[in-house]
Amino acid sequence: MLRWGLIGPGRIAAKVAADFPNVTNGRLVAVASRDQARAEAFAAEHAALAGHPVRPLQGYQALLDDPDVDAVYIATPHSDHARHAIAAIEAGKAVLLEKSFTATLDGARQVVEAARAHRVFVMEAMWTRFQPAIRRAQQLVADGAIGPVRAVTADLGVRRELDVTDRMFALELGGGALLDLGVYVVSFAQHVLGAPDRVLAHGSLVPETGVDAEAGILLGYDDGRSATLQISFRLPLPGNARIYGTEGWIDIPPRFHHPDRLVLHRTGADPITEELPPRGAGYALEFIEVAECLRAGRQESPTMPLADSLAVQGVLQQAADQLGVALHDRW
Ligand SMILES: NC(=O)c1ccc[n+]([C@@H]2O[C@H](COP(=O)([O-])OP(=O)(O)OC[C@H]3O[C@@H](n4cnc5c(N)ncnc54)[C@H](OP(=O)(O)O)[C@@H]3O)[C@@H](O)[C@H]2O)c1
Repeated sequence: MLRWGLIGPGRIAAKVAADFPNVTNGRLVAVASRDQARAEAFAAEHAALAGHPVRPLQGYQALLDDPDVDAVYIATPHSDHARHAIAAIEAGKAVLLEKSFTATLDGARQVVEAARAHRVFVMEAMWTRFQPAIRRAQQLVADGAIGPVRAVTADLGVRRELDVTDRMFALELGGGALLDLGVYVVSFAQHVLGAPDRVLAHGSLVPETGVDAEAGILLGYDDGRSATLQISFRLPLPGNARIYGTEGWIDIPPRFHHPDRLVLHRTGADPITEELPPRGAGYALEFIEVAECLRAGRQESPTMPLADSLAVQGVLQQAADQLGVALHDRW
């Protein structure tokens, strides 16, 4: 059983910790907050759920110094991912780093360099890639079920009212739709089509804080393939994804970033729906992956490799630059 520590006990950390009973090869043993009372409250709640103790720690370094923690799940704001990941790498802990990997491409490169220099396992927590319906879609594509793939579409949007106290609207914390939602559509396209040759983004900013509010993003490939992506903090977009081949298409119905089914449409045949729900909420799969990779002596995951995180971060950086969002990592 891999012994996990958690850094940044906020909204997603609470959902992930509640899904830990589905992590068949690991357990949550410690949680670190900047605030002692928050660490204690979170640890008590999740110890009760898990049926074993969870150590509350004040300060993230205390968790990195803890010899009884093997791997660290980092769920802090995007601006702090690079700094926290590199501190964990230097402490020799395997790292599962929430999406988006970092706030900037430069930050992503520094994390990857540190991981390789210290020979420490690092993976972006892009849970979508581990969902059974997504794995099945990849397999269908590889088997030629829809012929050669030429295009992808995907959308993801949530109508969010402005809250200047929320990291999602704070430019200095890497807020905005791109890093929160855009990463899913871009990572999906990159997973299916690879890294694009061109990126074109058009959208708008939240005037009060300067984070990006919405965007249409077109990814272009030299051989004519393309991905058409839509993200928004202004509109409640459904969360559909579709992969187009010469012999048909595959729909990943809402919400595609954690789907429970897919629909295969082959030209001239009735659609086939495959029900493929994850066990639990779907977060456990990425934790299982980390432990399996470590047991196999890997330094990165073949399903979510560092090269893919870098490619996705490169697209997000280009889109941010075109939208005029001044993202930065906090060191
Ligand atoms: N996989 C998913 O489905 C999913 C869903 C939502 C979000 N996420 C990702 O998870 C990460 C966290 O998102 P979230 O919505 O959980 O954020 P959140 O609720 O704001 O929690 C972030 C936590 O980070 C810590 N933190 C450290 N420095 C901070 C600072 N300067 N300002 C605010 N918090 C700070 C805080 O914990 P302490 O102060 O207690 O240490 C806070 O509770 C992001 O990368 C996000 O994209 C993933």
